[in-house]
Amino acid sequence: MHIGILTSGGDCPGLNAVIRGAVIKGTRIYDETFIGVRDGWRGLVEDDCIPLKRKRVRGLSGMGGTILGTSRTNPYEGEGGIERIREVMARAEMDSLIAIGGEGTLAAAERLSNEGIKVIGVPKTIDNDLSATDYTFGFDTAVSIATESIDRLRTTAEAHHRCMVVEVMGRHVGWIALHAGLASGAHAILIPEVSTSLEQICEWVEEARSRGRAPVVVVAEGFVLDGDEEVIAQHGLDAFGRPRLGGIAHRLTPMIEERTGIETRSTTLGHLQRGGSPTAYDRVLATRFGTAAIDAAAAKKWGTMVALKGIDIETVPLGEATSTLKTVPLARYEEAEILFG
Ligand code: F6P
Repeated sequence: MHIGILTSGGDCPGLNAVIRGAVIKGTRIYDETFIGVRDGWRGLVEDDCIPLKRKRVRGLSGMGGTILGTSRTNPYEGEGGIERIREVMARAEMDSLIAIGGEGTLAAAERLSNEGIKVIGVPKTIDNDLSATDYTFGFDTAVSIATESIDRLRTTAEAHHRCMVVEVMGRHVGWIALHAGLASGAHAILIPEVSTSLEQICEWVEEARSRGRAPVVVVAEGFVLDGDEEVIAQHGLDAFGRPRLGGIAHRLTPMIEERTGIETRSTTLGHLQRGGSPTAYDRVLATRFGTAAIDAAAAKKWGTMVALKGIDIETVPLGEATSTLKTVPLARYEEAEILFG
């Protein structure tokens, strides 16, 4: 078989480990040939493909980013569409595809699969918001980076007796905020699933201050303050028509300062959370996803996605992968909330 591999959507530490796992097992065990599609669906629409030989994936498991490049191109827009993709796949002698991506990519993969393209999906997102898999690689790395950053912000906040508001990624869900906030002992964690009032946030800040602490507030980019109509997004839309988020920490900071009288600063961690080397956990999960995707292709389980269930890797229908978001359950939030203030 000639298998195309693409990485699409926002990048995520561990993408290269998936590519490496798939190519090594596919070459060694199933005698497959691989074709790298550059920049996600863009490469498939614009016929931009490269040979992906085993020696090209050497030493990749600890490397961040993706050797194939990525983009947020929608394969059904512009010059794209099923006929164009069939044409490019035929020209590149590609008979099937491994699509590594998040909700947007996997939804496109499902649509292509319904139209007859042989696709296996691999879930990827630092947000960890795909319900069909217990964890996605990249999440652990993002949480580790955010935790270390919050630990560092705390020492400077303590030196100046300030409050720090730290914005982390998390478009629809607050997993990164919850885990990094818990790990770093934040005094308030604000997530998209739970709308919280300014009054409550300031109460937690003042409570921490009353014990001599420098209050730390961790907020997910998708958090909506109680009383606000919608999420803060000032940077237009991405290719899938989703608002580019960011700015909630900057919005909250003067409000907290004004209400509590505590000098407050904000930091947005942004793409730092997606950069650099994956953690050992993410390298292992990503490598297992890569080798499992090749097993799925060899077994002709087209239209499925590999997923972590407990400690095992299984396959689930692509439709299941994109049907519901894995939000933070209220009980998990309440468990953390006991520690706020
Ligand atoms: O979907 C993952 C994610 O990291 C979100 O948390 C964030 O909103 C988005 O990607 C940022 O995307 P971009 O790289 O296009 O700015």
